[in-house]
Amino acid sequence: MPAAEKFQETIQAVRWTDGAVEMLDQRLLPHTEAYLHLATAAEVAAGIRDMAVRGAPAIGIAAAYGVVLAARARYAEDPAGWREAVAADLEVLAAARPTAVNLFWALERMGRCLAGLEGDPVPALLDEARRIHEEDIAANHRMGELGAALIEGPCGVLTHCNTGSLATGGFGTALGVIRQGFAEGRITEVFADETRPWLQGARLTAWELVHDHIPATLIADSAAALVMRSGKVGWVIVGSDRIAANGDVANKIGTYQLAVAARYHGVKFMVVAPTSTVDMAVPDGAAIPIETRAGEEVASLGGQRVAAPGVQAWNPVFDVTPAELVDAIVTERGVVRSPDRAGMAAMMGV
Ligand code: MRU
Repeated sequence: MPAAEKFQETIQAVRWTDGAVEMLDQRLLPHTEAYLHLATAAEVAAGIRDMAVRGAPAIGIAAAYGVVLAARARYAEDPAGWREAVAADLEVLAAARPTAVNLFWALERMGRCLAGLEGDPVPALLDEARRIHEEDIAANHRMGELGAALIEGPCGVLTHCNTGSLATGGFGTALGVIRQGFAEGRITEVFADETRPWLQGARLTAWELVHDHIPATLIADSAAALVMRSGKVGWVIVGSDRIAANGDVANKIGTYQLAVAARYHGVKFMVVAPTSTVDMAVPDGAAIPIETRAGEEVASLGGQRVAAPGVQAWNPVFDVTPAELVDAIVTERGVVRSPDRAGMAAMMGV
């Protein structure tokens, strides 16, 4: 069995076990593998807000299971009026993080499902949450094939943040393409940005790549342009938290500067995301809400304050890459090359 499948079988960011949501606590990785056992929607919302689970598709999946917990509790309290009470829980889940549209997409889908239910809502809602989870895994594998096929290679690639099994239902978006591309001999090695300040690259992507025996080199974010200049990478491959109708891409802070540097150096730039990440209601990147987290994350490293006392820190955790800097957007429905409004609409079928 290929190593890529083994990782997915042993490590799951989110799972439904014995009537509760289990979240692999990503704040502790790679040193400690511990699952949080969450029995309420409020606990799931806190797990998303505090980044025990992170990555756009994984956040959506966690929220979907959170709706099951909400419905179970509210139906037990009041079998007649549970729907109104669940609406408040949906708002708590929706407020957990603002940028990844997968959260709102999953909540809307669960909301549509619960609207038509009679009697105990739990079995149907759990089925729907499981479908969201399984569809995401299937989308990852399809994107892996489509994205890998774009890479003539063999070449090295550079990636940013974590887009693997930890960020999705399993396998990964950009990391899924990397897994598939490596298995097909198109990708020879991976340069992984450490991804300050939360270190998703150093802690999570490096962990997944080492686990899968894919040759990986960790670099400081500020070394990326030098790696591109060296000729060691043919592609930058990243995920996304929200793609606007014109093809602008919100992703982890630092993605935009990678796209600028990639264009300058003639390195291709690929964005890999399921259609649950595409928000056709948002006309362009300027309208995507960008989360700002505590400045302390920038002023600290590994929980230790490193910055000079008294200095201010600004911590926007996503940025927007203009569509014109993107060579290809890969979704489970197909590839949009040189994305623009028409190409996005055609791919989304709207
Ligand atoms: O703040 P995070 O860790 O949730 O940010 C994650 C990213 O930016 C990922 O690149 C994105 O969600 C795509 S993951 C498949």
